[in-house]
Amino acid sequence: MTVHFIGAGPGAPDLLTLRGRDLIAACPVCLYAGSLIPEAILAHCPAGAHIVNTAPMDLDAIMAEIAAAHMAGQDVARLHSGDVSVWSAMGEQARRLRAMGIPYTVTPGVPSFAASAAALGAELTLPGLAQSVVLTRTGGRASPVPEGEALGRFAATGATLAIHLSIHRLDEVAAELARHYGPDGPVAVVWRASWPDERVVCGTLSTIAAQVGATMERTALILVGPALAQEGFEDSRLYAADYDRRFRAGRADAVKG
Ligand SMILES: C[S@@+](CC[C@H](N)C(=O)[O-])C[C@H]1O[C@@H](n2cnc3c(N)ncnc32)[C@H](O)[C@@H]1O
Repeated sequence: MTVHFIGAGPGAPDLLTLRGRDLIAACPVCLYAGSLIPEAILAHCPAGAHIVNTAPMDLDAIMAEIAAAHMAGQDVARLHSGDVSVWSAMGEQARRLRAMGIPYTVTPGVPSFAASAAALGAELTLPGLAQSVVLTRTGGRASPVPEGEALGRFAATGATLAIHLSIHRLDEVAAELARHYGPDGPVAVVWRASWPDERVVCGTLSTIAAQVGATMERTALILVGPALAQEGFEDSRLYAADYDRRFRAGRADAVKG
């Protein structure tokens, strides 16, 4: 018996990996993390599967479901939204599984920052503007952010920031970041990226809070940094005509195939 942690992607059912789909189809038990997992993904469960929404459950109750499946010798598909490597609470479940001697696997998913960048049609790392993306959040009731990871510290680097779990503090976030990126610093808010009702609002750090107002709750990502302008950058050297490419045809040591 194995527990398969599966990143279910940002929302669109066809942004699930093939591996994730096949594992879901092979598991008689499916535990899924609430409304961010669309019905169409649960439709991959086999007929008669035991399907449980874990949103209202605490960790002990979730582990009890897994222990029961373990006793019955039934594999479990454990679905979390986006990718499981960030803000999924996989860590604490995996720790309990290790203690219980229950094996588990991890299947990555499309994270919401990537789906949000796709909604914007944007590359987040642009030559001369930003070469790093910081996946971060502001502190919440459940999870305080360590002092060394304050938003201003990341902003001081000039990197592109992908700020999760913070839409309810948009005005505060914009005011803080305007001190680093300037009031005209570009920012985008993407709500429910890849869902049918996806919405995108682009603006500056001085305008974004008023633009968004109270129209977006919970499932939204705030992207900030000079790369969001999608202008004012050089072409990358990778495709420059005079760039000595390892794969360029005709070069004596060019890699074949
Ligand atoms: C608990 S975290 C889960 C993150 C997820 N594991 C991932 O890989 O993106 C939830 C936060 O992720 C962001 N998020 C998740 N899905 C999103 C989507 N479809 N569009 C925009 N933001 C999303 C929001 O900031 C939301 O508050």
